[in-house]
Amino acid sequence: VIRKGFFENKEVSVKENFADLVTETDQAVEKLVINHLKSKFQNHCFIGEESASAEKGQHIILTDAPTWIIDPIDGTTNFVHKFPFCCISLALMVNKVIEFGIVYNSVTNEIFSAKRGQGAFLNGNKISVSQVKELKDALVCAEIGSSRDDATLTVKFDNMKKIIEKAHGIRCQGSAALNMCYVACGRADAYFEFGPHIWDFAAGEIIVKEAGGVVFSTDGSPVDLLARKVLCSSSKELSCSITKLIQDIPYDRD
Ligand code: IPD
Repeated sequence: VIRKGFFENKEVSVKENFADLVTETDQAVEKLVINHLKSKFQNHCFIGEESASAEKGQHIILTDAPTWIIDPIDGTTNFVHKFPFCCISLALMVNKVIEFGIVYNSVTNEIFSAKRGQGAFLNGNKISVSQVKELKDALVCAEIGSSRDDATLTVKFDNMKKIIEKAHGIRCQGSAALNMCYVACGRADAYFEFGPHIWDFAAGEIIVKEAGGVVFSTDGSPVDLLARKVLCSSSKELSCSITKLIQDIPYDRD
């Protein structure tokens, strides 16, 4: 459905602001996935980007029950503009632990996947993070996200400046889930962002960890999937260097 929609003209609607987009394909894919999974697993719970957006102002409740975390299209802006860096991101949590994750870019035909304790894979081939430990050798992904207020943008660009002064490069590619998969397979060495939601990075979290990488909150504390802050990288050392340079941006919890 995503691949077909990618090449067509879309009906685009806005959510929080003019830069926070949703299409009929996002909604259709989420419905399709949830209906299919519900028919197989009647007692499971679902946290989906578009269902959550429809319940404005409600906090997300994550319980110990088996829970599917779904972003039907991560990188919706890319999808709208036919920039081929978008994917579906799907994770299953049980007792608040991620059991497996799948990130599928159907345009480039790349499926990243990981099951807890069983490694991470790209189209079935085992992947691992790069050996990079120092920022001076690193390619770092960061994101601007959809906030457009001055204070947020100032700190986001300031953080990127601090990183680029010391690293090989910075990339803002527009999909949190794929950024994490790129770290997992060694195409990038780190990714950090203030503002993403649980559905943007739940699947990526297990894929990076199973590929030998590390995932933290942006201040180096253990990652909290509902806190809207994530930093992942090929090594603890690299994460520490990034944490020391970046300034916090407050976001309300999911
Ligand atoms: C967005 C993308 C983007 C990131 C935003 C996310 P969406 O997800 O992952 O790269 O900067 O924080 O919300 O809205 O395309 O599913």
